[in-house]
Amino acid sequence: MNKMIKPLLATCVLAVGLALPAQAAPLPHVVILATGGTIAGTGANTTTTVGYTAAKLGVDQMIAAVPELQKVAEVRGEQVAQVASESMNNAVWLKLAHRVNQLLAQKDVDGIVITHGSDTLEETAYFLDLVVKSKKPVVMVASMRPSTAISADGPINLYNGVILAGSKEAIGKGVMIAMNDQISSARDVSKSNTSTVDTFRNPDLGFLGYMQDNKAHFYRMSTRKNTADTEFNVDALDALPRVDIVYGYANMDRVAMDADIAAGAQGVIQASVGDGSVPAQMMPAYRDARHRGVIVVRSSRVGSGIVARNGEANDDKEDLVVSDTLNPQKARILLMLALTRTRDTREIQRMFYTY
Ligand code: SIN
Repeated sequence: MNKMIKPLLATCVLAVGLALPAQAAPLPHVVILATGGTIAGTGANTTTTVGYTAAKLGVDQMIAAVPELQKVAEVRGEQVAQVASESMNNAVWLKLAHRVNQLLAQKDVDGIVITHGSDTLEETAYFLDLVVKSKKPVVMVASMRPSTAISADGPINLYNGVILAGSKEAIGKGVMIAMNDQISSARDVSKSNTSTVDTFRNPDLGFLGYMQDNKAHFYRMSTRKNTADTEFNVDALDALPRVDIVYGYANMDRVAMDADIAAGAQGVIQASVGDGSVPAQMMPAYRDARHRGVIVVRSSRVGSGIVARNGEANDDKEDLVVSDTLNPQKARILLMLALTRTRDTREIQRMFYTY
């Protein structure tokens, strides 16, 4: 090449390079796993907000309904189940956990969003919080209004969920729920209203932060261990031990507890009154359960607060476990997983104070 042209070319290339706009940061890769629920539901008309049919839209239809997703992430979807979440079960949980763990082990997946019905959202979220083996974000979203309703909340929840799942700030925060512009931890959140869009609350302990202006804003974190820091691994499991919940009320008797144990329950959560108080007629049932090796956990139907160990019962003497601040439906999940590892009540109590 001519000696004069070479430096000239180099100068031109440099000048063009300087004039080019800065490269946009690559979009995060987020996989949406769909399981059904109202977020995939359709009603007869735009004002139908009850009496609609849940779990109708497929994952690709849900993604197509929110084209804004393409601006915030490289998104693809998979249909894991198609149920209203009152019909959620252990088999779907295991399938979901296996798939989440497979996907998060891939270098080309930065985060996962799971669409789900709101009714048992907190249970699936807590199950995954205990068994996902990755620090990458897993975000669960639902809606209270079907996709066909005026002001449907599904699209904005899905949009916020995808941003959250793709954000660096969400790494290591455990499984989260993004609903109504709020971010909650799987452990502490609970559905509190049958139908309003602000139904997900964190009694006492508060939510983690907000979704605002296309960003996650975090203010707190749970101190309890989750995801990659737990001792639970369900990758090789295709079933979970049976654990049932017995509701507490004035004039209750032991019929339900005895029936659950006869049906094969290896653990029973007593959703008792107050501070997990034991009705006089139930202590013999607890003792019989323990005699048969069935784990009894004292929990509370109250909805917030600690169930105190050795408070309303002598747990050390009776060999019982308390649920700490877990509500009965979450205590059931932790006990199922605990029973995959041990039947020692002291060990199980340690787990209730750890997760
Ligand atoms: C369901 O849980 O699948 C129905 C209710 C809802 O999603 O809000």
